[in-house]
This record gives sequence, structure tokens and C-alpha cells, in this order.
Amino acid sequence: MHCYEGRNESNIFNKQVSLFKNVRTKEEFVSICKNFGSILHQKDDFDNSGSVEISTRLNLDKLAYQNVELFPHTDRSSTDNPPDFVAMWFEKTAKKGGETTLFFPDDHLLKDIDNLNFCAKFSSENDSNNKYLPFYDHSRDFFRFRNDDHISVKKEDEEKFNEVTNIIRENTVKVKTQCGDCLILSNKSVFHGRSSFIGDRVIHRVLIRNYDE
Ligand SMILES: [Fe+2]
Repeated sequence: MHCYEGRNESNIFNKQVSLFKNVRTKEEFVSICKNFGSILHQKDDFDNSGSVEISTRLNLDKLAYQNVELFPHTDRSSTDNPPDFVAMWFEKTAKKGGETTLFFPDDHLLKDIDNLNFCAKFSSENDSNNKYLPFYDHSRDFFRFRNDDHISVKKEDEEKFNEVTNIIRENTVKVKTQCGDCLILSNKSVFHGRSSFIGDRVIHRVLIRNYDE
């Protein structure tokens, strides 16, 4: 993992994971994100800041807002061209659990991808999709993935999906973040999730598109 105490912009491009420490405000978080590309609109961005608050709201029927485990995934996997980066600022960490989980598909799946690749219908709470999309897009060299109610795998690919899921489960790493941390991940070559937790946990999320696209 690349950890940047400072804000040297020349260091932050083309990295899979970047960590900025001691970020104090949402404005500071959003301005760090702008170094990575243009900020995408999100449906729940009620104050138009570019950033969405994800805190525990058990009455909301979205897994991200619960306190249960989130299996490693990529964001907006249902879209043709998902965001290039997902950024998270940890305003408040949970009393117990709630670690960020990361999986690096290039390290564990790429060498055998021709045998493991599968197609699935990816959808989301906001977007129903009827098109089959590849887990690994060969021509554009990126992964999309989720493992929840919003993925429907072709019958003949179920075995591959299960194998991929097992490999992810066995090779996921936990990252303990602190209040004020800002984690920026490649959304196309890193899967992110979180472990279940107890207590309040408040993160802010920004989705980013590379400037050169
Ligand atoms: Fe996510």
C-alpha cells in the first residue's frame, strides 16, 4: 500500500491504493480526490458536494448502510464503464470491526483468467440491467465484481463464479483505518469491502473518472 503523509501530487497517479492521513474536512477530502480525475455525480449526494455520506441507517434497504459484512466488490459494476477510482474518507471508525477489506485480482486471478472468467448480469439498487457483462473485460483490461443479490450468473458459469468467490475469500486482506484517513483505490483493479461492525461508523465516498478518458 502506498501511504502518503504529504500531498505530493506527482506520487499519486496510477497507483492501486493511496492513503492520505489526517484529512479533517469533507472539503479537504474532495479536493484530494480532484487530483485523481473528475468527480462523478452520485444519486445520494444531497448537498452536491461530490461526496456521499455512508453511515449506519438500518432502516435503509441498502447493504452499504447496514452494519453487516460487505463482500469485496467494485463500485457501479452494472455500468459499461465503471468509475476509475473509489475514494473513502473515514470520519468515524467503528468501536469494533468495520475494517476495510481489499482483494487484488491481478495477483490472484489474472494468470488463470481464461479458465475462470464468466459472464453475469450486474445490477444495483439504482439500476436494473439486463445485459450480460464479463467479470474480466479482456479488451479493456479491467475487472467488475459483486457477490450479493445484485448479480445473476449464467447457469453454465456458476462453478467458475464459486471458484472465483473462494479465491477472493481466501486472499482478502484487512486494512485497519483510522479517523481522518482517506483511502483512494483503483475501482478496476482492486475490490473493496468491509467487515461487520459494532458502533457508529461514518465514511464519505467519492467516485472518480480519469481525466484522460
Ligand atoms: Fe463499494
